Amino acid sequence: MNNIITIKDLNKTYDKGRTHALKDINMDIKKGISISITGPSGSGKSSLLNMIGTLDTPDNGQVIIDGQDTSKIKHINVFRRSKVGFVFQLHNLIPTISARENIEMAMYGTGLSPETMKTRALDLLKMVDMENLAVQKPNILSGGERQRVAVARALANDPPIILADEPTGSLDTKNGELILNLLQHHQREMGATLIIVTHDPKIAQQTDESIEIVDGKIDLGTE
Ligand SMILES: Nc1ncnc2c1ncn2[C@@H]1O[C@H](COP(=O)(O)OP(=O)(O)OP(=O)(O)O)[C@@H](O)[C@H]1O
Ligand SMILES: [Mg+2]
Repeated sequence: MNNIITIKDLNKTYDKGRTHALKDINMDIKKGISISITGPSGSGKSSLLNMIGTLDTPDNGQVIIDGQDTSKIKHINVFRRSKVGFVFQLHNLIPTISARENIEMAMYGTGLSPETMKTRALDLLKMVDMENLAVQKPNILSGGERQRVAVARALANDPPIILADEPTGSLDTKNGELILNLLQHHQREMGATLIIVTHDPKIAQQTDESIEIVDGKIDLGTE
């Protein structure tokens, strides 16, 4: 089986059922591909990413990752750390600690020594061309710089799955391309699977596959 993610009959509501955010979602995502998710604001894109990343649970239906039904996994935090790297819609860096420490935090609990974590964090910052700003705190970094730190953090544990929620949304074209290139480079080099939510058709064109979500449903369009 070559699917790293399978979603079966997934439904998600919020507000005691008043908002039906995801409706009967079924999908298979092949290992090693890049896939973009587009759709209007409020259509359920972030909700879907949160379910795939095991940050939230569906009302019913299944999210199967690497053959494992995620609702049956006991130590979900350990599972998530080993499988998923997140780049959030808002970068979600901790403002009061340095760029390097933000990356090290993603590695806590993996058994690496503090020295190894530090070296690895600096290597990751070098990869995103940020080594000169390693000691800076995110609140003084530009939007593009913060997003590069967020990408470095997402890649810290070499995740087989990268989930990126509008990672280029707040950036100009040049910085947006740079972020996409960094994510796709990791995807190809490591054989990882990249799922990227974007409203930018240029970004969506550059992924192997695309899906659109409209009103909580996968819209297969007229292809
Ligand atoms: N924690 C929550 N509590 C209540 N309602 C929520 C919650 N999260 C999302 N929703 C609602 O679920 C629907 C889908 O939201 P979601 O954030 O998944 O949309 P989206 O496609 O990511 O939108 P955007 O493009 O604006 O980021 C919306 O109607 C939203 O208001
Ligand atoms: Mg969203």
